[in-house]
Amino acid sequence: MSSSEQKSKTNQEKAMEAMEQIAKEASKKSAEELVFTYKGVLYPSAICSQETFQALECFEAREEDLLAVTYPKCGTNWIVQILHEMVYPMQNDHPTLHQAMIEFGKPEKVQKLKDRPSPRVLSSHLYYDDIPKSILEKKVKILVIFRNPKDTAVSYFHFYNSNPVLPTYSSWDLFFKDYMSGKVCCGSYFDHALAWNKHIDEENVLIITFEEMKEDLPIQLKKISKFFGISLTEDQILLIENRTTFTSMKAKSKETHGKFGDAFFRKGDVGDWSSLFNEAQSQEMDAKFEQCLAGTKLGEKLNYNKYCTF
Ligand code: A3P
Repeated sequence: MSSSEQKSKTNQEKAMEAMEQIAKEASKKSAEELVFTYKGVLYPSAICSQETFQALECFEAREEDLLAVTYPKCGTNWIVQILHEMVYPMQNDHPTLHQAMIEFGKPEKVQKLKDRPSPRVLSSHLYYDDIPKSILEKKVKILVIFRNPKDTAVSYFHFYNSNPVLPTYSSWDLFFKDYMSGKVCCGSYFDHALAWNKHIDEENVLIITFEEMKEDLPIQLKKISKFFGISLTEDQILLIENRTTFTSMKAKSKETHGKFGDAFFRKGDVGDWSSLFNEAQSQEMDAKFEQCLAGTKLGEKLNYNKYCTF
């Protein structure tokens, strides 16, 4: 291919080609090779590394950065797309999710992030304690998205089995065990939730849920834009809403996520957990929720009884 053809490709096309290459390499690896442990937490070795984590310690945050933090499958792609629509309106060739995720990529990623102009939309699955210090020191505004733990588990199971960079699970039951004990990539849902619950009242932290966004997206868009100090007209809110529904994002997913579109945009529903959970698993999750989150502000926000009972 000539260099002019290469140049005329969009950022997203180039990023998709790189991801396809990563996936191809990953598909030759064993389940053990596909993950590594950093500070006791599993991560996918095809897309991040110990060296990148070390490089991230020197990451320089800017006060005007916008950070979205999620546990995997809680709506990362959705919220990052919303922030891109708010910050870079009417632009189609946004950075990809992989580019926005601070811990994904080679150690040079930290320099690439440095070269990006402000305001930068950043995202992460990191535990609170592993978020680079300068983000906390600069009091960067952090939007955290959670989703009910049962739908998150089901979504994660399907994702493990449709994404070549992750090991495959031969059964839901095996996945459920690992999910409950936090032996999945990016660690335990409950450890994440407990850590963020401690910061729920801080003025630079806003926690909203996937279910709140499904229930009334315009209200949540207004809350998010106010939090980040982005002023939007009603028409702009409507436009962002239209561009970030599940249907619109899935329809554009070949452009934004290449071959991986269907893995990232599966159903986008609330309540799909009942397709896989049996009664015993449901009770085990109920007990875990009760033990970890009952009576906490985040626990209340997750509206467990509404979204997680048969
Ligand atoms: P399902 O597997 O339940 O369909 P993440 O982006 O953190 O990987 O999360 C993926 C989950 O969010 C998937 O859930 C996906 O379908 C859902 N999702 C992605 N975009 C969405 C949107 N615009 N509206 C609703 N759900 C969305």
